[in-house]
Amino acid sequence: MKNISVTQLKSGMVLSGDLIAPNGRFILPRGACLTAKSIMSLKIWGIAEVPVADAPELQPPGEDLLFGSEVTEEAREIVLDTLCGIKPSAPFMKEIFRLGVNETARGLARGKLSYLEQPSSLELPFHPSGGEERATLSEIVETEANLATFPDVYFRICEALQSPKSSITHIADLISKDTSLSATLLKIANSGIYGVPYRIESIPRAAALIGGRALSVLALGVSAVQVFNHIPVDWVNMESFWRHSVGVAVVAQILASLKNAGIIEQLFVAGILHDVGRLVLFRHIPFTMARIMKTAAERKIPLVEAERKELGFDHAELGGSLVEKWCFPRSLTQLVKNHHNTAEGINSFPAAILSTADVLATVTRIGNGGSWHVRPLPDGVWRILDIAPSALEMIVRQTTRQTTEIYSLFRGGDGVHGKTVSHP
Ligand SMILES: [Fe+2]
Ligand SMILES: [Fe+2]
Repeated sequence: MKNISVTQLKSGMVLSGDLIAPNGRFILPRGACLTAKSIMSLKIWGIAEVPVADAPELQPPGEDLLFGSEVTEEAREIVLDTLCGIKPSAPFMKEIFRLGVNETARGLARGKLSYLEQPSSLELPFHPSGGEERATLSEIVETEANLATFPDVYFRICEALQSPKSSITHIADLISKDTSLSATLLKIANSGIYGVPYRIESIPRAAALIGGRALSVLALGVSAVQVFNHIPVDWVNMESFWRHSVGVAVVAQILASLKNAGIIEQLFVAGILHDVGRLVLFRHIPFTMARIMKTAAERKIPLVEAERKELGFDHAELGGSLVEKWCFPRSLTQLVKNHHNTAEGINSFPAAILSTADVLATVTRIGNGGSWHVRPLPDGVWRILDIAPSALEMIVRQTTRQTTEIYSLFRGGDGVHGKTVSHP
């Protein structure tokens, strides 16, 4: 049996195995002959790969030349620069590179030259007192724990999450009392993440569908973002920052749904919050962070490496400690803490997903989390994921569409019909 990407399907191909949607729903039986209409439905259902009998030997996709060779060449240089000048050799990183070139060329062709506005050209501001900012990781965590003002419902959901006796009905009741939170959760549930072919009209229905614990984690994630998403931060485009976070969340949930639908919420929320430590750093030590950003851009190294060198810790460690204080499950706090530990820390399927999502979103320019450079992922990550590189193109397309929808929910729009945001 051979799986091929939905982007490479043709009418007349025959399924060599049953086709099941990411949410477990049966779609088509083994032996079904694909039509143009059924291929379109598979794309809408978020299917990335399909088992096909007698699949033709498909050439690995080459670099698309949709934008003219000059634009493509410029895009290739920008993407190489993003990958710290390291030309990828492994098949999956080559595919990420190719997709990055396509998306960058698309942006350049539309005149979106913001890709090139790196902080190396930043005029370094001076601290008003002329002094130096000083803060340790534990000092920042303590201060932030006192500063962040979460709504009442947050603490009640925390209690419910920690109590083994909490029933789905109790959790649904708690969430339903907060109408604004309930409305946002229902919009997320209906946004296509779960691939449910009908509208989910109520929180009890959503809880029954995805589980009380999963809905609680999602509710905490939405509440945490709402605490942070209107805080202005210097030197960072907040729209681009949250777009990156949502993009990572969407890629992570799609990758999770391909193999283990039971961890979708955890990966989605980890994606949303993975860089929150950086936001907090920008708030606590803005002048130091401006200097660190400039250094990273000048040396063409990932911002996380410059943070470690200058501060002795990084935003991932800080973010992990913060979400631990904010009552998220330990498995999620570990994901946030290790999302840049690609060499030794990526030893589980969820960790491999989050790191891949971060690199894919950065290289294909779905927003920007503050870092202009990432290192290519080691081969081990792809072996853990065990997904064909050809599936990535569909994932990027689906992510671009869903990111705009979910981003507007988090930023106060109403999803599909809400305000749209420019890319990146
Ligand atoms: Fe990060
Ligand atoms: Fe990131």
